[in-house]
Amino acid sequence: MELIVARSREDLVKARRGGDVALVPTMGALHEGHRTLIREARVRADQVVVSIFVNPLQFGPNEDFSRYPRTFGADLDVCRAEGVDVVFHPAAEDMYAPDRQVSVHAGRMGEVVEGAVRPGHFDGMLTVVLKLFNLVHPDLAVFGQKDAQQLALIRRMVADLDLPIEILGAPTVRESDGLALSSRNRFLSDDDRETAVALSRALRAGAAELTPSGIRAAAQEMLDAAGPRLDVDYLALVDPATFAEVSESYEGMAVLAVAARVGSTRLIDNVTLTLN
Ligand code: PAJ
Repeated sequence: MELIVARSREDLVKARRGGDVALVPTMGALHEGHRTLIREARVRADQVVVSIFVNPLQFGPNEDFSRYPRTFGADLDVCRAEGVDVVFHPAAEDMYAPDRQVSVHAGRMGEVVEGAVRPGHFDGMLTVVLKLFNLVHPDLAVFGQKDAQQLALIRRMVADLDLPIEILGAPTVRESDGLALSSRNRFLSDDDRETAVALSRALRAGAAELTPSGIRAAAQEMLDAAGPRLDVDYLALVDPATFAEVSESYEGMAVLAVAARVGSTRLIDNVTLTLN
């Protein structure tokens, strides 16, 4: 089957065939992490739609919207190779009318951890994801655990707003030394790249401990060992349902999340662990 590139709601309607539709939302610059989501979608549904849209609404005024990598030609090759049926690639002016007013508010979970460092980010993210759901009408959508708070918020939106869409989470794809794949990794210099491995190293050190204080201390030690090139935004051990910090007596699944700047590039990573 020929890959269809859809630019509008009308194009999407025309491309629609029978059967289950899976949506994989992305901002492009596709890598092996995105490919894993696409493969998961491919086995789960009859038709796979990948959206490629760098969403201005989820970038703060001092963030990297203008320098975010845009590699549409290469992304189409990836989608073809993965057997994607439709690439949805809307123009920003078609997504957002100048007089638009209503948007999604992420609530308290959108204001902690990553949301505390990036005010408004999760509102912008949920708004575009809801729009993509309404444009594509998928039966299911696939997201990466790499963005754990994003995935948790999307699950909350689907539950709280009764969206008839199944949400699938896919594990984080990593380089052999542990660095989580990211579209932003291409900005890392050789020195940055060496420093960046501290994030996954810290998560692994934390995950080897048994108590919240032990986990936080072991991870922090690894971050400190990376030296001043690593500028840490946060290290958080949180309840995956709320992203609130867990207490020392907490039992159950927890997410250990980290964000740091290396040179001019901001990286995030997380692992899920069980406390008992
Ligand atoms: P983007 O950063 O392009 O990521 C698209 C999807 O790929 C997300 O679900 C993300 O969690 C997943 N992903 C990224 N790196 C991954 C990795 N190393 N392993 C597994 N999955 C990975 O996330 C966004 O775009 C946007 O916020 C979006 C949801 C498209 C809304 O604009």
